[in-house]
Parts: sequence; structure tokens; C-alpha cells
Amino acid sequence: MELTLDNILIALKAAGEETRLRVLALFRSGELTVTELVSVLRQSQPRISRHLRLLCEAGLLERHREGTWIFYRLADSGDKANLVKSIMEYIPYSDQILQHDQERLVDVKKERDKKAAKYFQENAVNWDKIRSLYVAEKQVEEYLLDVTSDMEINDLLDVGTGTGRILELFSSRVKHGIGIDLSREMLAIARSHLEQQKISNMQVRQGDMYDLALKDNSMDLVIFHQVLHFADDPHAAIKETSRILRKNGQVIIVDFLPHKIEKLREEHAHRRLGFSQEEVKEWCSVTGLKYKLMEIMQGSELDIAIWVASKN
Ligand SMILES: C[S@@+](CC[C@H](N)C(=O)[O-])C[C@H]1O[C@@H](n2cnc3c(N)ncnc32)[C@H](O)[C@@H]1O
Repeated sequence: MELTLDNILIALKAAGEETRLRVLALFRSGELTVTELVSVLRQSQPRISRHLRLLCEAGLLERHREGTWIFYRLADSGDKANLVKSIMEYIPYSDQILQHDQERLVDVKKERDKKAAKYFQENAVNWDKIRSLYVAEKQVEEYLLDVTSDMEINDLLDVGTGTGRILELFSSRVKHGIGIDLSREMLAIARSHLEQQKISNMQVRQGDMYDLALKDNSMDLVIFHQVLHFADDPHAAIKETSRILRKNGQVIIVDFLPHKIEKLREEHAHRRLGFSQEEVKEWCSVTGLKYKLMEIMQGSELDIAIWVASKN
């Protein structure tokens, strides 16, 4: 749709203010919450909220609420998406103030990641109990084997492998498998599980879902089992997955459907309270994946979905 002069003026006026330009620049690295922006820009929450409201009203930012948190990101659909892209191209990376903001954002994210890492460090030993708290594990595992039964899987990647359960499950189905995880404590347990079971075609190593350090087009199947709700930027993780998938390779995401159990954020380091089908479809469409299906498994407190997509 073509923009009207009025619309362009509203958007440019919204962007044409120092703090709001700084805010826009910070969104280069993905979704952010008000609290994160407040920590980076060191301005009061009401002020930052007001800037965000203006940027949303002007169509430059989009927002979605999840429980008590609101996530903001650059508009990537709608009539202002191209305009905001063009504005972003003019914001210089080299500007000192903006560089300083970026550095603060890195610190704020590090602090947050440290909290999550601490959670996994402390809970590595108990993870196998925790993982079955909300999840109909057996049902999910049977489905995973079933939905991949006609695939020839030479190379499997399990992202956020934790204690390596998914590697164990697929060990007799695939030629080679690799599990990556940020947490050394989780990986130590995964290694000892694989050794105990004498599984030699699966290995684990430390790695980051945003930067997999794997070759393009090198995997047939990638699984995210109960991992993406810990992610800062699930969309970026799916983009990285699309890069390493072979043609016709599949990605399977197992995660919660949208829910309201806020305490999972405080007590179990969750960032996102589940995902909707629309959101997963959108990740696929912008990362060149073909969305295939969603299977829902109802739990007593939380419902789980299994999404399958493939690379064109
Ligand atoms: C809830 S556990 C799930 C483990 C396993 N998939 C399972 O189902 O038992 C999530 C795992 O994701 C890992 N993780 C979190 N952020 C990560 C990242 N950026 N890259 C790789 N692993 C990550 C955590 O260390 C943790 O082991």
C-alpha cells in the first residue's frame, strides 16, 4: 500500500527526536522490553514508555504483550516496514552515542544471560525431573519419531540439547548427530548419558543457537525441544537454522502454546510465555522455510505444540 503524505510525516516526526532515534537504533539487535531500554538509556520508565508509544503509533515499532511483559520490535510488516528499514540505513553505526548505547545493551543482555546460565548450572543435575514436569514427554517423543519416520537422516542437530535426551532418542535413527548447548554443566551430563548408553554416533559440544559454527546446508534435521522459550530472539535462531539446513531438510520445534504462568519467568528463567501458530508461521515465511504442520498435545497446566517446517 502506498503511504500518504500525512503518514510519512507522522513517522518522520516520531523518528526525528534524539532519544527515539537512539531507541530505534537499539532495535537493530532484535526484540526488547521497556525494562531493557530503561537500563540502557538510563531514563525513567514513563519517558521510555512514552517514546515507545509514539513510535508504535507512527507504525515504526510493533508490540506484543505476553503476561506482564511487552516486547517491542521494528515493524516488519504493514505499510511502514520499508520506511523504517530506510530510516535504519541512515542511522550511523559509528556515532559515539549510539556505540555507547550498543555497548550498554550488550552488558544488559549479558547480565540477563548470566541469570539464565546460572539457572541451568544450578539445575543441570535435576533437569531430567524438571523437564517432565509440564510435558507429556513420552507422547512427544513418540510423535517426533513418527513424524520423521520416512526421512533419511544423515545429520541431526539438537539445539539446546541439555542433558541430551533427544540425541538418545534419535541415536538409532540417524547416522550422525550433534547436540549443542551453552551450558557446560548440561553438556557434562549429556556426555555421561551418551557414554553410559554406549551411543557413539552422537556428540555434544558447546555452542550458541544464534551462531552455530556449522557449514551452510549441512543438516537434515534440526530439533528445538523446549529451548526457544529461553531465547532472546527466537526468530534469529530460526534464521541461523535455515542457513545450515539442507534442501528439503526439516526443523521441528517443540514448545509451549501461549500461556499465562508468569512464575516460569522468575523460577525457571523462561523469557517467552509460549508461542502462537501465527508467530511460528511468520518466522518460517521470513527465513525461507515452508511451514508444514502443527500438532497440539494438551497437558494438565500447559499445552505443547510441535511445529514442523522444511527448507525449500
Ligand atoms: C529447557 S532446556 C531443554 C533441554 C533439552 N532440549 C530437553 O528437552 O531436555 C534448554 C537448554 O537450552 C540451552 N540454551 C539456552 N540458550 C541457549 C543458546 N543461546 N544456545 C544454545 N543453547 C542454549 C540451555 O543451556 C538449556 O540446556
